[in-house]
Amino acid sequence: MPRVRVHQHVNPLAPYFRFTPKPIEIEKIYANPCLPLHLDIGSARGRFLLKMAEISPACNFLGAEIREPLVEEANRLAQEKNLGNLHYEFNNATYSLKFLLEKLPADILQFVTIQFPDPWYKKKHAKRRMVNDNLVETVVEHLKFSGVIFIQTDVDFLAEEMFELFREDEKLREIEIAENPFSVKTEREAAVEEKGLPIYRTMFEKI
Ligand SMILES: C[S@@+](CC[C@H](N)C(=O)[O-])C[C@H]1O[C@@H](n2cnc3c(N)ncnc32)[C@H](O)[C@@H]1O
Repeated sequence: MPRVRVHQHVNPLAPYFRFTPKPIEIEKIYANPCLPLHLDIGSARGRFLLKMAEISPACNFLGAEIREPLVEEANRLAQEKNLGNLHYEFNNATYSLKFLLEKLPADILQFVTIQFPDPWYKKKHAKRRMVNDNLVETVVEHLKFSGVIFIQTDVDFLAEEMFELFREDEKLREIEIAENPFSVKTEREAAVEEKGLPIYRTMFEKI
């Protein structure tokens, strides 16, 4: 199937993307809603979660992505493969993740991954960056105890900025890591590794 064509970047501050999503109801989405949940924020075409869902049937997977055509394509693929543990949502994670997760049962969110978010290099575009106080607060609130947040990027200043926002939260303990703890790489990770460029990674556990 040809890959759906989309804009490379969208502006999360644009009115179109500042909508309030309906909260997900996991019992309507997953074959077994009691399984631990892995949330990937900025899931793009969703191939990372697709592979994860295939090799980890004992976990449910949720992708949040701002480019709607990619979400539709990824959900189509998940259905074609009959994966009852995989779902994607059109969501502007910077501003409305909290509404999406509002009805999430406690003690279900086990993993959160944030991988190679757009850097929005210019200072005047800093507000468009995905990880902000809102996002950190929402993720930490819903993460179960001993749940894990994994973050990676190839952009040094963005790594520091994102890592610092999570470090400020006293409910988290940082775990230094050199490698990706998951056995699957995202498309961006594979591309960066192929070029031999550095990748900055860290992990946090909720304590
Ligand atoms: C550089 S891509 C990386 C995709 C994938 N995580 C990977 O590592 O290959 C960043 C992704 O985050 C998405 N994104 C950017 N801002 C977002 C936001 N506010 N909410 C949800 N997704 C967002 C983009 O549309 C894009 O798909």
